[in-house]
This record gives sequence, C-alpha cells and structure tokens, in this order.
Amino acid sequence: MSLTILGIESSCDDTAAAIIRDGNILSSIVSNQDVHKEFGGVVPELAARAHQQNIIPVVDLAIKRAKVAISEINAIAFTRGPGLLGSLLVGTSFSKGFALSQDIPLIEVNHLQAHVLAHFIKVKGKKTRFPKFPFLCLLVSGGHTQLIIVRNYLNMETIGRTIDDAAGEAFDKCAKIMGLPYPGGPHIDKAAKGGNPKAYIFTKPKVKNLDFSFSGLKTAFLYFLRDKVKKNPDFIEMNLANLSASIQQTIIEILLEKLIEATELTGIKEIGIAGGVSANSCLREKMLAESQNRNWKLFIPEFRFATDNAAMIAITGYYKFRQSQFAGLDISPVARLII
Ligand code: KG4
Ligand code: ZN
Repeated sequence: MSLTILGIESSCDDTAAAIIRDGNILSSIVSNQDVHKEFGGVVPELAARAHQQNIIPVVDLAIKRAKVAISEINAIAFTRGPGLLGSLLVGTSFSKGFALSQDIPLIEVNHLQAHVLAHFIKVKGKKTRFPKFPFLCLLVSGGHTQLIIVRNYLNMETIGRTIDDAAGEAFDKCAKIMGLPYPGGPHIDKAAKGGNPKAYIFTKPKVKNLDFSFSGLKTAFLYFLRDKVKKNPDFIEMNLANLSASIQQTIIEILLEKLIEATELTGIKEIGIAGGVSANSCLREKMLAESQNRNWKLFIPEFRFATDNAAMIAITGYYKFRQSQFAGLDISPVARLII
C-alpha cells in the first residue's frame, strides 16, 4: 500500500507543510517570518501569531502542489518539540484538528530526530545516496549542536552536545555584534569570502568529552570588538571580511575537532550533517577535505532539507507510521525534548 504523509513544522519562526509519498517528496512549502528581522532575533509571541496566519495557506499550497486529494493523505505528522511553546501549539492544534476531521492517525515528531532523517528524503529523478547505519550525524542549527550516533531510523543516541549556545546562535550573535542582519549565519558566510581566516585568533574553549561550548567565544568577540571600536569607530566596517572569516573559522574548527574525535572514538566513518549551519560554504569545504583525508563517506542533505522544513517531519512520520508509532489526541507540545 502506498503511504502519503502530511508533515507540519512550526517549532520556531518557519511555518512549513510538506507531503511525502513512500519516502518521495511531492511538495514542501516553507513560509519565513520577516516580522522578526527588525528585532535581531525571534520574538516568540510574534512567531506564534504569524504561524496562526500562515498555517492554513501553507498547508493548502502543499496539498495543491503535491496534486493529491485530501482523502489520499494517510496520516499527519507534526513537530511536538523542542521549540517555542506558543509556536508548537499552533502546529499541534492544527494537526489534531486535521487528524480528527479526516479520521487519520496523528504522529508526533521530535524536531531533532527529523533533522537527522532529512538524509532519507527521496527526490524524484535524482539518485540520492543514503548513509548506512550506524552513521554519525553532526546536527548544527540555530537552536542545537550535537553529535548523534544513528543506529536506525528511530534509534539514535546523542554522544555530545553544547553546554550553552548552539553553533548557529554563535554565528547569529557574532553577526549581530558586527551590525549584520538576523539571521547572521549566511551574512557571515558571504562577508567571509575573500577574508583572511587567520587575521584574528580567538581562543577555542576547552570542553570535556564530546561536548561543545560557544558562549565564551561570543563574549571574547564582543570584548575584542569593543576595544577596537573605541580606538577606531570604523574598525568593523574596515575589517568585516577578515573578522567574518576569522570567527567563522574558529566556529568551524570547534565543530570539526569534536567530530574528528567522535569518529576516532566510535570508529564510524559514515558521516552526516544536518541543520541550518550545514549550509555554511566553508564548513562544507572543510568537511569534504576531511572526508578525503580520513576516508569518510560524507552525506549532506540538499540545503532546502537542511534548514527547518516540513519534509523532514513528514519523512520521520513515514518511518514512525511503518512502526505503528501513533499519538493520541490528548498529546501536548513540549518546549524541551532531547534525542
Ligand atoms: O536548522 P535551522 O533552519 O533552524 C533551527 O532549527 O535553528 O538553522 C538556522 C540557523 C541560524 O542560526 C542561521 O544563522 C544558520 O542556521 N545558518 C548559517 C548559514 N545558513 C543558515 N550559518 C552559517 N552559514 C550559513 N550559510
Ligand atoms: Zn531546526
């Protein structure tokens, strides 16, 4: 029997819906919320309100683009957490109503697990290589930074995580210090092109085991710039490329050092990368170079499946459906959820 899943994602500031049939993507719609730009970060109350406005048009478009009838949808999968509670509530309530009205199963999805399973989204006409189990996944996004051993679709273990800020948060906060718009990661990526990554050296944190830390780096960057700007108010403007390249290099080195340590400890050479920061061009280059040097098999999902999207929720729903892992209509979203 063919299996058609509608996925809903509303954990932060993107309202998204997607349809997946037997693991193949039929449609994926993501509506970004511009309303946060002027605040330099996501405002939870505004995010929840924007989700309420966006959710029905986004789902409607996803169904139309997929060219499926509502009656062909076998289940609805939604992000239960982690995320902003007000935002999660919108997707959860919508999904419950949809499941009830269509009399189809409801599937709760852990957003982090979904980022990892984005590796398994099939695109028609494209030959996609899938990682073999067990593989090691570096999940790097605005809210999360962790190293995960993926033993099977629904069997994952986190072996390292950030003890404070996430890597994406470090990009965003350092960008904000330099006066770049939110989210700052892509702006640093762009500004770093042509810059010297060794122009400024920032101390890397010493963190035990496979854990990460980024908050000290952000503070060091802030104080470094405060002193420089005191002496020369145009310092940032004059050195944007070098500053961006140097801070980007430091963040990437922190990530790669732990990833390398994890591969040595586990002996796993099948490597995946997930989350918005995986879009970073320098990180991709460096990961490719390490893969060649260390004989890793590297898997990087398409960019549209790396940042927040609902196709990853639908693919996770697909694997949970196959295991009959359904949720009751009394389920509530949770702001904190781990792998
Ligand atoms: O996965 P995602 O869309 O949302 C979360 O679950 O957080 O990740 C968003 C994060 C932001 O911090 C953004 O700055 C970062 O991904 N990002 C990048 C790049 N593109 C997005 N960071 C560095 N370089 C990029 N090119
Ligand atoms: Zn995410």
